[in-house]
Amino acid sequence: MADRYLHLTGTAPGRFLTRRLGLPQPAPLRRWTLETPRLEGPLLHLTAGASAVTGVAEVLSRSGLPVVGDTDRPAAIVLDATGVTTAAGLGDVHAALHPVVRSLAPGGRIVVLGTVPSPDDHHQAAAQQALEGFVRSLGKETGRGSTVQLVRIPVGGAAQAAESTLRFLLSPRSAYVSGQVIELTTATATPGPAADPAAPLTGRTALVTGAARGIGAAVASVLARDGARVIVLDVPGAREELERTADRLGATALPLDITAPDAADRIAAAVPDGLGVLVHNAGITRDRRLANMPADRWASVIEVNLDSVLRTTDELLEAGVITRGGRIVATASIAGIAGNTGQTNYAASKAGIIGLVRSLGPRAAADHGVTVNAVAPGFIETKMTAAVPLFIREAGRRMNSLSQGGLPVDVAEAVAWFAQPDSTAVNGQVLRVCGQSLLGA
Ligand SMILES: NC(=O)c1ccc[n+]([C@@H]2O[C@H](COP(=O)([O-])OP(=O)(O)OC[C@H]3O[C@@H](n4cnc5c(N)ncnc54)[C@H](O)[C@@H]3O)[C@@H](O)[C@H]2O)c1
Repeated sequence: MADRYLHLTGTAPGRFLTRRLGLPQPAPLRRWTLETPRLEGPLLHLTAGASAVTGVAEVLSRSGLPVVGDTDRPAAIVLDATGVTTAAGLGDVHAALHPVVRSLAPGGRIVVLGTVPSPDDHHQAAAQQALEGFVRSLGKETGRGSTVQLVRIPVGGAAQAAESTLRFLLSPRSAYVSGQVIELTTATATPGPAADPAAPLTGRTALVTGAARGIGAAVASVLARDGARVIVLDVPGAREELERTADRLGATALPLDITAPDAADRIAAAVPDGLGVLVHNAGITRDRRLANMPADRWASVIEVNLDSVLRTTDELLEAGVITRGGRIVATASIAGIAGNTGQTNYAASKAGIIGLVRSLGPRAAADHGVTVNAVAPGFIETKMTAAVPLFIREAGRRMNSLSQGGLPVDVAEAVAWFAQPDSTAVNGQVLRVCGQSLLGA
């Protein structure tokens, strides 16, 4: 559904009127296109104190942006704050960013590099945790379509673990991601960048559930763009739409209800060479306040959104269908973080997804060489949100740092980042794609 307010504020009279009324001023976001694959402008590399990780400059040099130590109009700023271990050291963060933050180009990116707060050193933990509050606040201040994130690299680790993450965050692909904290693991074998950076998923098979339309169709499209052979799965009742989507993307259609008892077997049969990327995207809502919610509405949401995800994940992992180096990406929601009136069933199912990825991630990596992560979309413009009543829909669109809803492609780009071959250090993470929504902040 078109965001007419965003269109209005893009016109001179509309901008004048809405400014006078003190209304939000969403900046049109610049997303990835073949013609504009990168941010336009230099990357300013700053360090607060001494860096505690190796290889930051080398990784930034491969970001595709010219790296400079001084500029009056950076498209991106990376502040290495990994060496900040005391409250006094936080002064170096202020000293580095205060003079330059105003000069960030519209649609710019700020990424702060930190380390994991230590359970053994409360001064280090305080200083590093302080960066989270700092980043979340700065994300609310920068405006003009800019975003701010914190990436935690394990203490004593190498910045190489952050390469795919920085490539994503410092590009137009992360346009609707802001105020996020990403904690990288010490992956023992992080492969280098893919042989073909334009098609990093070449040779991999990806299956996306609920992919006839909406976010799932966008995920399938982006994974196909990145070189994957794609299988799109949706309920048999959506067969026509599913086949149209498959035809459009050069994908294979698999009409299947993911809650069917033999769903994992049917998926395994469809991928004789194994599955490199499994995206659990199928989801439903059956909203009612708990007092009015019959058991069947509760059960159907838990079954589609959570139980079928647990079951198929377990069965496909155990059967070795998901190949080593494989990626599982599930779909949570900010409702699973913040809760929502009328959505006890939906929020429970989506919070369950968060529990699943945090618990399974480390074990799946150790036992199967597979990472498990989740996206948690905020307000995304789809059929699901078009059905939301007008007032709540407008509130959902504006109540975030970017003052607008996201597009399905924004979620898809995050899934594609998790799926990258060199995202091995990204595991057990839940990335909100919500423009830094105030809900659950
Ligand atoms: N749109 C948003 O703002 C938003 C926000 C947060 C989370 N999400 C989540 O993102 C995912 C996609 O949402 P969307 O907005 O594209 O929804 P959508 O309703 O447009 O698409 C969901 C798809 O899942 C399919 N599906 C439902 N039950 C299925 C089953 N049993 N087996 C196979 N396929 C099934 C549907 O047929 C549909 O094609 C969902 O998990 C949803 O909960 C969406």
